[in-house]
Amino acid sequence: MGKILITGATGNVGGAALRALREKDTDVIAAVHDPAKVESVRGTGAEVRLLDYADPDSVARALEGVDRLFAMVPLHEDMRRWGSVLLHAAKEAGVSYVVRSSSMGADANAHYQLGKIQGGIDGEVEVLGFDFAVLRPATFMQNYLAYAPLLKRTGVLPVPEGKQATSFVDARDVGACVAQALLHPETYRGTVTMVTGPEALDNHQVAAILSGVSGREIVYQGGDIEATGLYLESQGMPEWDIHMQLSLHRHARNGYTGFLTKAVEHLTGRPATRFEDFAREHAQAWQ
Ligand SMILES: NC(=O)c1ccc[n+]([C@@H]2O[C@H](COP(=O)([O-])OP(=O)(O)OC[C@H]3O[C@@H](n4cnc5c(N)ncnc54)[C@H](OP(=O)(O)O)[C@@H]3O)[C@@H](O)[C@H]2O)c1
Repeated sequence: MGKILITGATGNVGGAALRALREKDTDVIAAVHDPAKVESVRGTGAEVRLLDYADPDSVARALEGVDRLFAMVPLHEDMRRWGSVLLHAAKEAGVSYVVRSSSMGADANAHYQLGKIQGGIDGEVEVLGFDFAVLRPATFMQNYLAYAPLLKRTGVLPVPEGKQATSFVDARDVGACVAQALLHPETYRGTVTMVTGPEALDNHQVAAILSGVSGREIVYQGGDIEATGLYLESQGMPEWDIHMQLSLHRHARNGYTGFLTKAVEHLTGRPATRFEDFAREHAQAWQ
């Protein structure tokens, strides 16, 4: 087997893919952006290479001798361009197989802006002629860890998504799927798979679960898109990021995010994590 490179190896999905591959003693290269994180990633036993999408030379260096690539691009104003930088460098380096993690509903003509961007990168993988497997995950359960500081202060879920349900997935399950797809191109080559959790929950149900596991009252009030935008602005979030986040909330509010698949079970051979189990594992975060 040729060399495997994992981008975003310190992130939710890439980190889980890296751990899953190392558990199987697979030779793998971890691409790390923040030099301060190199040592901890080395602890996994992986070779570590620095890669910064804003520095195309570092991307080319990280890809030397690589045959299979996990291509994730972080949420950033330049992410569409960064996707192109990565894929063209991969072509140049002779990569043959690309596994992508984009997002549910990603498509160049998607109904939401981030879906268009992710879908554009997915499409470029195909146009450049790689063998590919594209995974399109639902909303990550891990987002609720990011809401923890605000929840601690207010006890109110800051998600303006009305009563619509979402098929939340544990990003670690997505990483385990990525690892399987990387290890088995003979099975997954040419596939596009939506990856969801086992159930679709609305935020009233999520609030009840978080209250149950944390022992404090957490409520959901349906939320207001404009008010959320103003709040994010007051927190200093850049305009592009606010626009993306609100477009995701509108996408959910309009009912596009409740779709369920059995992908985690099919790819990994074990059931997808339930929100309640995820929440119990992280109960301290909301206490
Ligand atoms: N959150 C959701 O609900 C959700 C749902 C579906 C799809 N997605 C998609 O999933 C992706 C995010 O995945 P994630 O949650 O695994 O990521 P994450 O945990 O947010 O981590 C981001 C990763 O990107 C790396 N990174 C940041 N800036 C970089 C740069 N300039 N060059 C190279 N690498 C850089 C970070 O490295 P350092 O730590 O070293 O800086 C880190 O490994 C996005 O594409 C998002 O659209 C998210």
